[in-house]
Amino acid sequence: MKIGIGNDHSAVDMKKAITEHLLARGFEVVNYGCDTTESYPYPEAAKSVAHAVVNKEVDCGILICGTGIGIGIAANKVKGIRCATCSEPYSAALSKRHNNSNILSFGARVVGVELAKMIVDSWLDAEFEGGRHQTRIDMIHEIEKEA
Ligand code: RB5
Repeated sequence: MKIGIGNDHSAVDMKKAITEHLLARGFEVVNYGCDTTESYPYPEAAKSVAHAVVNKEVDCGILICGTGIGIGIAANKVKGIRCATCSEPYSAALSKRHNNSNILSFGARVVGVELAKMIVDSWLDAEFEGGRHQTRIDMIHEIEKEA
């Protein structure tokens, strides 16, 4: 599985730690984020990863900024993206099982590296349950068409 990862200047070290973790687990990782602490606007990284996901260049995405919020809001502006901002593993797993989230975001200033790895693992290891949850996702994407 190929994972797109993106980040702003506040999450360079976190992105590196999560990338190493993903590679150690055997995933392929494509870096769409910044690699210096020079100011880099999070919508850029969000847009790159979100487009890579909807265009199927990667199977899913992980976005990291200071809080995970701005980068998640930006990603969710792209049609077809269901980005879940999570600070703990339970929500991360449920966002996949019920919402079929295709991007996970979190904050490098909110969670430590070890908790972030647990959040990422819970998300990647969970499976979408379909059924009534798919019906609700279809309703979300109907809203996109109305906007
Ligand atoms: C950057 O300072 C910060 O605003 C950004 O990383 C993020 O937290 C925004 O939601």
